[in-house]
Amino acid sequence: MSTLLGIDIGTSGTKTLLVDGRGRILASVTVEYPCYAPKPAWSEQVPEDWWKAAARSIRLALAKARVKGRDVSGIGLSGQMHGSVFLDKSGKVLRRAILWNDQRTGVECDDITAAAGGRDKLIQRVSNPALTGFTAPKILWVRKHEPRVYERTAQILLPKDYVRYRLTGEYATEVSDASGTLLLDVRQRAWSKELLGLLGIDSALLPRVYESPEVSGKLTAAAARETGLVPGIPVVGGGGDQAAGAVGNGIVRRGVISATLGTSGVVFAHADSVETDPLGRVHTFCHAVPGKWHVMGVVLAAGGSLQWFRNTLCQDLVAAAKKKKVDPYELITADAARVPPGAHGLYFLPYLTGERTPHADPSARAAWVGLSNMHGRAEMARAVMEGATYAMRDCLEIIRGMGVPISEIRVSGGGARSKFWRSLQADIYRQPVWTVSSSEGPAYGVALLAGVGTGVWSSVPEACDATIRKVSQTKAAAGNVRVYDKLYPEYGQLYRSLKDDFGRIAKLQG
Ligand code: XUL
Repeated sequence: MSTLLGIDIGTSGTKTLLVDGRGRILASVTVEYPCYAPKPAWSEQVPEDWWKAAARSIRLALAKARVKGRDVSGIGLSGQMHGSVFLDKSGKVLRRAILWNDQRTGVECDDITAAAGGRDKLIQRVSNPALTGFTAPKILWVRKHEPRVYERTAQILLPKDYVRYRLTGEYATEVSDASGTLLLDVRQRAWSKELLGLLGIDSALLPRVYESPEVSGKLTAAAARETGLVPGIPVVGGGGDQAAGAVGNGIVRRGVISATLGTSGVVFAHADSVETDPLGRVHTFCHAVPGKWHVMGVVLAAGGSLQWFRNTLCQDLVAAAKKKKVDPYELITADAARVPPGAHGLYFLPYLTGERTPHADPSARAAWVGLSNMHGRAEMARAVMEGATYAMRDCLEIIRGMGVPISEIRVSGGGARSKFWRSLQADIYRQPVWTVSSSEGPAYGVALLAGVGTGVWSSVPEACDATIRKVSQTKAAAGNVRVYDKLYPEYGQLYRSLKDDFGRIAKLQG
């Protein structure tokens, strides 16, 4: 039977999965590495750390599952999107990679929008507006601020594609991750010669683009030595972490949507054709399913808001949880569940690190609004969870408004593990939510893509049908839906009221 490797180059670590030809997980190993913030709102990593973590996690996974390197039949790569790795002509890394959550490129985003002839024209060309996290503004930033690095640059790669280079010696990417560079003509699934020309970026700096299940290269002898594998194993295109995670959740047909509540929150919808929001509030990218696309809303601090609340205001609960040997979130959630829907009139805006969808506003900040002396920590906790879930509903509403049907919502991430948060999601989304059998995210999705690329399954939907099952449904409670329908419009109004204040406060900070 085939054995597949799925490798996800995440922001906190690399996760490697060994999966058999029926989709069963044989081993899962994560190796962590640091993230550097040389200045506030900057975020960088060392590409060599990704490679070391990938090689080590492959070795550890093989040992854990007692699988021989020669028995691995295909490899799929996934990773954090939008990061940029600059290489010289001998393939040497020229500077630390600038990551998806780095906010240094506000000016370059304006430059790109102007060069494209305005925001609407940019969206027509590459289906998305310029956002600070995307790759193209990072390239312009390096060209402007580090001209000596740029002069020596011969190739620019996304994070997982740097690991592909180390595995296969090939400079290659695939359509889903390439979409997040802002340089891909998402409609044509090829680099946008037009935009590259307008920005003065030489297309020779960019790798060849594949479809996600296509074989992009084979393992080299040197990589085989470092990983414990054998030379010649095919490495497929794979996918950016969101598209790959969606494959891992079975989001491969129109109408099936995922809502993933991790540190960030992502609402992901499959699309049979290119669907764009004229206001550019959601991303329109190629899907990891050949010839298909997806639309996606990204909430920067969804689960991250509750994590911040736990870390700053719940130290006693963290200590109590340690004694009881339970997860602190269980105690926080139990408190929140005792408060009625709407948290007695308290709202929380979850913009701790600015926001992408729907506001694309790096200056937005979080706030509790409506605090009174009757409120305590339980109301504050409930408001945080409700605020993060309203932000997810914002994404759903935009996607619905674009005419993309939402017939089934599959939930995943930390927010799906909590029964309370699943119910809250069903109540706020106004429809039932489902959990699915696979919970290993992007690494699982790319292991399936490796199976498709090496003939285990004939298509991505077939791979998903063969391996992913719906497990449990959580229904919305009619009474709660009525309450949230009344409260949700006010949540949207609060950002509009505070938007200018956030801008002024950001300026005061310098
Ligand atoms: C997607 C995005 C994040 C990163 C890191 O647009 O920015 O999902 O890929 O996980």
